[in-house]
Amino acid sequence: MSLLKLENVTKRFGGLIAVNDVSLEINQGEFVGIVGPNGSGKTTLFNIISGVYIPEEGRIIFDGLDITNFQPYKRAPLGIGRTFQIPRPFASATVRENVAVGAMFGSLGGKASVDESFEIADQTIERIGLQDHRFKAAGALTPVEKKLMEIARALAMKPKLLLMDEAMAGMHPNDIDQMVAFIKQIAIEEKIAVVAMVEHIMRAVVGMAEKVIVLHQGSKLVDAPTKQALEDPKVVEVYLGHPPEA
Ligand SMILES: Nc1ncnc2c1ncn2[C@@H]1O[C@H](COP(=O)(O)OP(=O)(O)O)[C@@H](O)[C@H]1O
Ligand SMILES: [Mg+2]
Repeated sequence: MSLLKLENVTKRFGGLIAVNDVSLEINQGEFVGIVGPNGSGKTTLFNIISGVYIPEEGRIIFDGLDITNFQPYKRAPLGIGRTFQIPRPFASATVRENVAVGAMFGSLGGKASVDESFEIADQTIERIGLQDHRFKAAGALTPVEKKLMEIARALAMKPKLLLMDEAMAGMHPNDIDQMVAFIKQIAIEEKIAVVAMVEHIMRAVVGMAEKVIVLHQGSKLVDAPTKQALEDPKVVEVYLGHPPEA
């Protein structure tokens, strides 16, 4: 049984179809890259999966449960964690507090005590390499550190599915390689399915992905094992005829 299943999902904004009849399946522990040019519907798709938007058509099944009409606060405890394309930390709270919030409202929500939540936060912060910034206000972090904190906060949710929206945009390629390898390692250890969204065919993401789904103007163009997806002529065409760098 797949962990996440979308069946013919459509989301409109007025006359614009942002996500058009998309069906897809993500398996437990799978690493999937969702790729598509700016405006192709990636963030909207994420918002549908995490519950920010309810689609006009289609169904969403998570872990065997129909969650199509669930609000976000009901999805996070089921094990759906996410990062945001534009991080929105509690700026005056510390890094530690921000990450602990993830633990409190994630799959352990209501189960972990406050102390336990801070313990999870500390472990996650250490793993992601932000331990020296633990007591800093989140607002004082550099943009890259904010991205890392955002990833730590999502991991502290102990998700079954981690949605990463352009989480590594703006980072140095070496940092991205390192971060993707690190996330992959945690994902394998904790059996987390990772869905990473990127605008460009990013070597690191694509290199780690078992499967790549390409969106184009809201529709699914290709959904195939990574190598096959990248060699697909439709994909090459979407990227202006340039062969993918990977
Ligand atoms: N809240 C919104 N209201 C109106 N249009 C939106 C909204 N969010 C996204 N869109 C439109 O939906 C399309 C897909 O956007 P988006 O999902 O952000 O794409 P991507 O993340 O791939 O860049 C774009 O045409 C965008 O302008
Ligand atoms: Mg986006």
